[in-house]
Amino acid sequence: MSTPGPVRLEGREKVTGTARYAAEHTPPGTAYAWPVPAAVPRGRVVAIDTGAALAEPGAVAVLTHENAPRLKDTDDATLLVLQNDRVPHRGWYVALAVADTPEAARAMAAAVRVSYAPEEHDVVLAPGHPRLYVPETANAGVPGSRERGDFDGAYASAPVRVDATYTTRALHNHPMEPHATTARWEDGRLVAYDSCQGANAVQETLAGLFGMDKERITVVAEHVGGGFGCKGTPRPQVVLAAMAARHTGRPVRLVLPRAQLAAVVGHRAPLVQRLRLGAGEDGVISALAHEVTTHTSTVREFVEQAAVPSRAMYVSPNSRTTHRVVALDVPSPSWMRAPGEAPGMYALECAMDELACASGVDPVELRVRNDTAAEPDSGKPYSSRHLVECLREGARRFGWDARDPRPRSRAEGPLLVGTGVASSYYPVYLMPSSAEAHVTETGRYRVRINATDIGTGARTVLAQVAADALGVALDRIAVEIGSTALPAAPLAGGSAGTGSWGWAVHKACRALNGMVDARGGTVPPGGLTAGADTAGDVPSDPPDAKAAFGAQFAEVTVDRDTGEVRVRRLLGVFAAGRILSARTARSQLIGGMTMGVGMALLEGSTMDPRFGDFAERDLASYHVPTHADVRGVEAHWIDETDLLLNPMGSKGIGEIGIVGTAAAVANAVHHATGVRVRDLPILPEKVL
Ligand code: MOS
Repeated sequence: MSTPGPVRLEGREKVTGTARYAAEHTPPGTAYAWPVPAAVPRGRVVAIDTGAALAEPGAVAVLTHENAPRLKDTDDATLLVLQNDRVPHRGWYVALAVADTPEAARAMAAAVRVSYAPEEHDVVLAPGHPRLYVPETANAGVPGSRERGDFDGAYASAPVRVDATYTTRALHNHPMEPHATTARWEDGRLVAYDSCQGANAVQETLAGLFGMDKERITVVAEHVGGGFGCKGTPRPQVVLAAMAARHTGRPVRLVLPRAQLAAVVGHRAPLVQRLRLGAGEDGVISALAHEVTTHTSTVREFVEQAAVPSRAMYVSPNSRTTHRVVALDVPSPSWMRAPGEAPGMYALECAMDELACASGVDPVELRVRNDTAAEPDSGKPYSSRHLVECLREGARRFGWDARDPRPRSRAEGPLLVGTGVASSYYPVYLMPSSAEAHVTETGRYRVRINATDIGTGARTVLAQVAADALGVALDRIAVEIGSTALPAAPLAGGSAGTGSWGWAVHKACRALNGMVDARGGTVPPGGLTAGADTAGDVPSDPPDAKAAFGAQFAEVTVDRDTGEVRVRRLLGVFAAGRILSARTARSQLIGGMTMGVGMALLEGSTMDPRFGDFAERDLASYHVPTHADVRGVEAHWIDETDLLLNPMGSKGIGEIGIVGTAAAVANAVHHATGVRVRDLPILPEKVL
């Protein structure tokens, strides 16, 4: 195995507290903002009395739809805050208090009196909801519905059949650093320090909303304390902070209170997924249907594309994959780590386990038998696909062969013990990027690119890519990222950051070497600079299907008396292209797997039908795994360099770790107990 690689370049700054996050910039005269969320699930604001709020000591202003700066239209209506009197869901912002201190702003927000004309609301996702429709496209632009061959006929005649419905609740990302912005206007220019996954998108969105040339806006995201997708697109805090700074003429800092996040920064929508698998006695699939029912909001359509992995994973000559969605009076769903794939593979991989039981074929062997060299839905060959190798290597490392397949076959005192397996899958996305490389006369290098490090180690990996492309030692390279003042780059999302940024960095570094070579190896006093842009290099419709694969194995214990499920061992083997940095890759993969344990056993947001509100508003009620919940997590990978993808031969690793984990755990729970829990999270009462 490769060496761990360098430690994070910004590690010292972070652990000594000198790395500055969005809410740690305090320009002179900074005022502080606190939002006022709507207290009804649907209706209109009829009056806002700001008198008491403005009488608070330290009060500066209250922004409402009556006095806030007007915004231009945008395709993301979740950002059109304080523009009219509509309340599309509870928690939608209806006012913003601004004061000399955060405490005063909070007191003001509590003193704002809002009168509403409430309307009937509908927040319950029911499978037979009369307003369900099939969207033309689901998230990521995929077709809402796909049909191949004759599913009904093939399923009806299949010797072995599985028909199971899996349900999942809404999920929230909850990064350690809540969404935050410090914004200031100077001579008609806007500077925003924003906690986001991609500053260029924020800059462009602000330019559109405020009707400005984007060259007059700088967005800085130098350090970001986690995102997982909920910072993948601009969020209301940056718009509100910019509005408040313009309105008051002072720099304004807005940190969203964690209790408000559930309503305004997106969630993974609740899902009802019906899986039908028809197979031969040998377990080979002849018919596959994956039918997804979910919700979106009335503000913005976002359809979790959970049926998508069923279009890619296994042989399925007759296939139906559909999404149906209903727009409810709920907060807008949005990105959460592996949107589509994480919940979709939970359902598909549990159904595969049920098929293994029904056909009597070992779960690892079943997946091997249904492997395919081409993506079934598109017919395109995979540029590389090493799922089988991951399954075999994982089985070997985990000790799968010793497994007695019968449920309830292992016990240790009060504990039932079980093991389960699931496949992992995540598509490879690549986006055009630009970058710049500079060399000084003394042979020091500087790489500049507006990449975002959301805790992944992006800086470090880009330095490694540069060192590799330049053929020089890492310590001669400085990397500047995290500002729109740098060459434009795409967001840290879709597991596409490193591949997309790295490609541009690689290209700039090679161009720089070419310039130095052309001068006979000499660098002039001012140094040399090379820019690169991969807009012409990244194919828009590649001839190959591109994805990373993996296999995850879980061992759980289930307490017969309490129903408590513990994950004792979790082992993943991934085929994710060339691993550029073993240290940061391992961290990404086990981080994703840990989040998958949360999805399996702990996480879930509850929509209160009366109040139209998510009940969980803090980390005491929204449970995520702690260290004690995650024992023995191992991530491994197999050698795979896919030069059809990019010059590094890498695939993304940010999301694949969470894909399959919940199914591996659920399948292990079934093996331990004989109980098939088809509803996440697997709480104690469900297994007793
Ligand atoms: Mo990730 S959900 O693509 O930020």
